[in-house]
Amino acid sequence: MTEPIVKGRNLVKRFGSVTGLNHADFDLYPGEVLAVIGDNGAGKSTLIKCFAGAHTPDEGEMWVQGEKVEFKSTHEAREHGVETVFQTLAVAPALDISANLYLGRELRKPGLFGKVFRQLDKKRMRQESGEHLQDLGIMTVQNISQAVETLSGGQRQAVSVARAAAFGSQVIILDEPTAALGVRESAKVLSLIQDLKKRGLSVILISHNMPQVFEVADRIHVQRLGHRAAVITPQTHSMNDAVAIMTGALQVPENEQTLAPVGSAA
Ligand SMILES: Nc1ncnc2c1ncn2[C@@H]1O[C@H](COP(=O)(O)OP(=O)(O)OP(=O)(O)O)[C@@H](O)[C@H]1O
Ligand SMILES: [Mg+2]
Repeated sequence: MTEPIVKGRNLVKRFGSVTGLNHADFDLYPGEVLAVIGDNGAGKSTLIKCFAGAHTPDEGEMWVQGEKVEFKSTHEAREHGVETVFQTLAVAPALDISANLYLGRELRKPGLFGKVFRQLDKKRMRQESGEHLQDLGIMTVQNISQAVETLSGGQRQAVSVARAAAFGSQVIILDEPTAALGVRESAKVLSLIQDLKKRGLSVILISHNMPQVFEVADRIHVQRLGHRAAVITPQTHSMNDAVAIMTGALQVPENEQTLAPVGSAA
């Protein structure tokens, strides 16, 4: 019996008088791609920000890999293997690719220079960044010391995803990674998601693009008015159904939902 790798129950997040999350439940299972869809303002970003350590919920409980967690920072979420590419890309445009990959976890030179003088080991960071990008099959950038602000949108997105995937994380959260991308660049990010899954990682993909969602998702969490309205799959429901659930036109009884992957938890 498989347990969720990320689980949330009854999550509430208020912003003054606005309710971002209204008793939301959430389950991500190991090795799956879970899409999160919903109208603008449904609480998708707020939900994943709780698991990313960027928000602290006002109520409710969260578990990662079976351990109850109360993240106070994105750093803490990372330490639990949860990496997030936020809707507004958290990259430093003026820095180069390897500096971005290692932002917040820079490698120091060995020995005295690193320990006492805190000198960065730029050479090793460049070399390992190149390896990470190559690993992920996104080595279209010719120069690892190119400033991120000079990259194309797709390349920039690839750097963010690489950053998320490069450091032994188990869970990768992507908040609308293809929203600003062209067809070819989107296809690249989608195949990257499939690669991550092949490598055994679990992926949360927030997207408004139904064809993309139906192409890559194992299960689809539909968020509506701050909570989970239903969990469906591309096999059990159509894109029209998905949109109808998002708008409240269709309600799916629990026994017709796919709250856990087929063949996992009882
Ligand atoms: N920092 C904040 N301060 C105040 N209100 C917020 C904040 N963040 C989110 N909200 C509100 O919470 C609700 C949920 O927002 P959220 O960003 O989670 O929606 P979303 O589903 O990600 O939408 P979108 O598809 O547009 O990205 C919205 O009503 C939003 O205005
Ligand atoms: Mg959002």
